[in-house]
Amino acid sequence: MERFPPSMPIAFVLLLLAARVHYAEANPGRRHPIRSIFSFGNSYTDTGNYGKLAAPVLPVIPFSNLPYGETFFGRPTGRASNGRLILDFIADEFGLPFIPPILGEERNFTHGANFGVIAATALDLGFFLEKNITTVPPFNSSLNVQLEWFRKLKPTLCSTPQGCRDYFRRSLFFMGEIGGNDYNFMRAAGKTNEQVALYVPKVVQTITAGVEAVVEAGARYVVVPGILPTGCIPIVLTLFASPNRSDYDARTGCLREDNAFARYHNSALLEAVRRLRCKYPAVKIVYADYYAPVMAFLEKPTTFGFSATTSGLRVCCGAGGPYNYNATAPCGLPGATACPDPATHINWDGIHLTEAAYKHIATAWLRGPYAHPPIFDAVHPTVHHSGMFILV
Ligand SMILES: *[C@@H]1O[C@H](CO)[C@@H](O)[C@H](O)[C@H]1NC(C)=O
Ligand SMILES: *[C@@H]1O[C@H](CO)[C@@H](O)[C@H](O)[C@H]1NC(C)=O
Ligand SMILES: *[C@@H]1O[C@H](CO)[C@@H](O)[C@H](O)[C@H]1NC(C)=O
Ligand SMILES: *[C@@H]1O[C@H](CO)[C@@H](O)[C@H](O)[C@H]1NC(C)=O
Ligand SMILES: *[C@@H]1O[C@H](CO)[C@@H](O)[C@H](O)[C@H]1NC(C)=O
Repeated sequence: MERFPPSMPIAFVLLLLAARVHYAEANPGRRHPIRSIFSFGNSYTDTGNYGKLAAPVLPVIPFSNLPYGETFFGRPTGRASNGRLILDFIADEFGLPFIPPILGEERNFTHGANFGVIAATALDLGFFLEKNITTVPPFNSSLNVQLEWFRKLKPTLCSTPQGCRDYFRRSLFFMGEIGGNDYNFMRAAGKTNEQVALYVPKVVQTITAGVEAVVEAGARYVVVPGILPTGCIPIVLTLFASPNRSDYDARTGCLREDNAFARYHNSALLEAVRRLRCKYPAVKIVYADYYAPVMAFLEKPTTFGFSATTSGLRVCCGAGGPYNYNATAPCGLPGATACPDPATHINWDGIHLTEAAYKHIATAWLRGPYAHPPIFDAVHPTVHHSGMFILV
């Protein structure tokens, strides 16, 4: 008995580490407290809402046609990619089914709901119309509208305050990406980055209010994604092509000013996340970085399985031009064709990423290094001083 106590703590720690790895890797569904996912956002998360919203109004919806969905589903699902989105990979890692779109056929939202809509903005449609910014699509799908859908759904998931707290403490919330479209529509309406920057506080405040709304409803785990490096998105590179080489980052070919703008939004959002963490110490709020992974793909493509021979800015599904992106013949419509090897491309259709890119980002948000803290760390049971797990 005398010689065991000194070595006990080490053995115990090793046992705990082994248990942690075993459960996290082999048994994510049982290990984690997460039983449902609720997602707010735009085309980077929409799994079918836009198609339902736009079908009665628009004659053609590119996302409802092949080759959208060709790689994984074998059919278009309303996802703006060739296959699964980040949200799909994350649901899968938690042992959950794909999260059904709130406007779709699936009406059982026990495991969560997806409120994201292609082209959705953080700010309300009325804001854009008042400002005469008519580049915004005429659908009422802003963050406040999505939060309204959530409020309507809530009584079907839980009925008492305690019941709702118990239900939502086992939910993971995604508040975004949202806001990127607000800026894109303002830019498309002729505003400069400098003019658009004046609206960053308003957009960030709207996202903050969204986080507070779900926290008040009982959320314990909230992921807040930033925006992508806008200057590396082929539609932006095409719309704002410059004859001046110094407008481009020599290493990646991205537009420098648009990327500086994206970093400005992201730093304001991260600051807001820090304030929210102080205000709600019992809530785990993850900042998910969309900017750094896309830059990493462009800077070191082969590390991620992307082609070293074609530019990372070249779109897989398009109709020619310097980036294989032509707005008059977008992916999903006649004239555009998909590359035979989407997994070697970062960008799918000029705006959205390929399933391969989304998969890398999902992994990096779950396990690091591109989320702060990584989602698995945020939702993992923590180790108590005594060395015992506390199941949260
Ligand atoms: C909804 O799905 C859950 C989990 O898959 C199941 O337990 C439940 O019975 C379903 N509810 C209805 C009303 O079908
Ligand atoms: C959008 O919907 C909300 C209700 O969800 C409504 O209050 C608002 O007036 C609508 N906006 C427009 C521009 O239709
Ligand atoms: C809105 O924009 C259109 C076209 O850009 C212009 O003709 C019109 O005068 C503008 N209206 C207002 C109220 O600014
Ligand atoms: C190109 O951009 C740089 C930096 O913005 C500027 O100093 C330079 O005058 C521009 N050149 C031309 C030809 O516009
Ligand atoms: C885009 O497609 C249209 C129609 O096919 C064509 O007229 C135009 O030249 C194309 N633009 C580019 C940049 O390739």
